[in-house]
Amino acid sequence: MKIIVVKDYEAMSELGAQIIENTIINNPSCTLGLATGSSPIGTYQRLVKAYEDKRISFKGVKTYNLDEYCGISRSHPESYYYFMHDNLFNHVDIDEKNVHIPLVSNDNLEQDCKNYNDLLNQTTIDLQLLGIGANGHIGFNEPGTPFSQETFIVKLTDKTRQDNKRFFNSIDEVPTHAITMGISNIMKAKRILMLISGKNKADTVVRLLKEEIDPDFPASVLHKHPDVTVIIDQDAYSKI
Ligand code: GLP
Repeated sequence: MKIIVVKDYEAMSELGAQIIENTIINNPSCTLGLATGSSPIGTYQRLVKAYEDKRISFKGVKTYNLDEYCGISRSHPESYYYFMHDNLFNHVDIDEKNVHIPLVSNDNLEQDCKNYNDLLNQTTIDLQLLGIGANGHIGFNEPGTPFSQETFIVKLTDKTRQDNKRFFNSIDEVPTHAITMGISNIMKAKRILMLISGKNKADTVVRLLKEEIDPDFPASVLHKHPDVTVIIDQDAYSKI
């Protein structure tokens, strides 16, 4: 695991975007695994700028998102489908048919998981972007998720719902379940890029860097992956 400590959120976003930009330049038809949350927003803004400045095109790029909430529609402003279009896809030349986000039909969730998992099994993700939950979750793989887990329906922990409450009007509106790539899907990516920012992640970073591999802290599985880069800002690194 390669750790890069940078000054702040802006520097993290700059470096994150540079790595993704280079991936696209080296392989214009690459496959990216994408994440939501506040951590990658600055990175997406810089990728939009790189597209506007004609340094990169998304025409041949394929994307697979980590997860999606259950119980809200794609048109809901807090759905991850909406988030990805609002922050990235609507502003670049990506072909919508190359965009993959778990489709939650809400009447057959098992089938929805199988469909997404089949799609993932038919592709290889060149670069997977990840944030991290305060409790160490990646995608929505909450503590205790087996490392062998494939795409599944997860019941969100109270901690995660509380953390994500800031995006909704009240805790009652925060979905209770989500569909997420499993840890095993994430680990199949050729390269992984994780972004960690802010004081509220300082304890999370301490636990991640302990190098103790434990399903109770899902991100610790990344120590088993051969090509992981973690960009951490000084606030998140402040307890090391
Ligand atoms: C959500 C997402 C994760 C993300 C996490 C952290 O739970 N499912 O993919 O990493 O939030 O979000 P943030 O970057 O806002 O701290």
